[in-house]
Amino acid sequence: MSKELILKKERIEVRSRVAQTYSSSIATDVYRGLTASQKYIPSKYFYDDRGSRLFDEICYLPEYYPTRTEMSILDSVASEIMAPFGEGDIVELGSGANRKIRVLLDAVGPERISSFRYVPVDVSEAALIASSKELLELYPDLEVLGIIADFTVHLKDLPSDRPRMIIFLGSTIGNFHERERKKFLSLVAETMTPDDRFLIGFDMIKQKKTLEAAYNDSQGLTSAFNKNVLHVLNRELKADFNPTEFKHVAFFNEEMERVEMHLQAKEDMEIRVKDLDLTIELEKDETIHTEICAKFSREGIKRMAADLGLEIRRWFFDEKAWFSLAELVLKD
Ligand code: SAH
Ligand code: TRP
Repeated sequence: MSKELILKKERIEVRSRVAQTYSSSIATDVYRGLTASQKYIPSKYFYDDRGSRLFDEICYLPEYYPTRTEMSILDSVASEIMAPFGEGDIVELGSGANRKIRVLLDAVGPERISSFRYVPVDVSEAALIASSKELLELYPDLEVLGIIADFTVHLKDLPSDRPRMIIFLGSTIGNFHERERKKFLSLVAETMTPDDRFLIGFDMIKQKKTLEAAYNDSQGLTSAFNKNVLHVLNRELKADFNPTEFKHVAFFNEEMERVEMHLQAKEDMEIRVKDLDLTIELEKDETIHTEICAKFSREGIKRMAADLGLEIRRWFFDEKAWFSLAELVLKD
């Protein structure tokens, strides 16, 4: 696979592995999704420049507790997490804005920071470049290798020549469907050596009311984020969605232990997707499924680790146990 070099300066290098594959995969993925009986759009297409910005704003919403809860855990355990990790690569999957990594880097302190390289991996080019540059300014001795990639496709291309701390925060793990989650996690586990650790942020099951408020904020940002995917399809595939004709719907599906996000048609409509040579019909109230945000239990996480042949070495919670950070290593 060719690796497009986007930027290289003294301490920063950014490479893209998606530029050549994006246009063919969005076409295939969207065709498949819009012709399924329950229509869906894969959620990685949320994150164009505008989507990444909207997501970042969601993180600060009063109703959206996951970011500040995970940050509070990180704040209190960052030194503990970093202490046994002497040197190597900190590989962050779905890095987005760089708020969380800073807590870990601050815990390392300026004397030790040159022992690490930060390797953010994200599909969003804009977010990745902006946050990498910002980090270079904040940490003059840090080396950064940014990789614009789809972590479901390009895992094997990530550096693995030094001990790694792979971090996967924000409960992004909950945005996979169960089968994809298993596949993804076992791929990560296969690439791990005994010197590697895998730090995952899990949003835990809690009251329905709290969960639903987090995805139905009063400022309408989550709704704008959800509808943004229609703007992406209009631009990338010359579709003619009118986002105002859709309603943002998000609810906790208790049986499936997940929040689901949908876009619901307000009227019967016909959508033309020119680049796919596709016309679809939507009936009033029919939905396009856009995202799942799975919520986890301690038992479920333990089972998941065991199935992967991994062991939970350390597990950190906030006071209310709303969120948790689990450090997984190979079982010896
Ligand atoms: N880690 C950050 C951001 C979480 S949002 C936090 O905890 O706040 C999820 C991030 O994953 C976004 O930045 C999005 O662009 C990225 N992302 C989503 N699907 C991806 C994929 N398949 N490959 C790579 N990055 C992806
Ligand atoms: N993974 C986070 C969550 O499940 C962030 C996230 C992904 C999100 N997609 C979202 C937040 C859609 C709000 C709306 O909460």
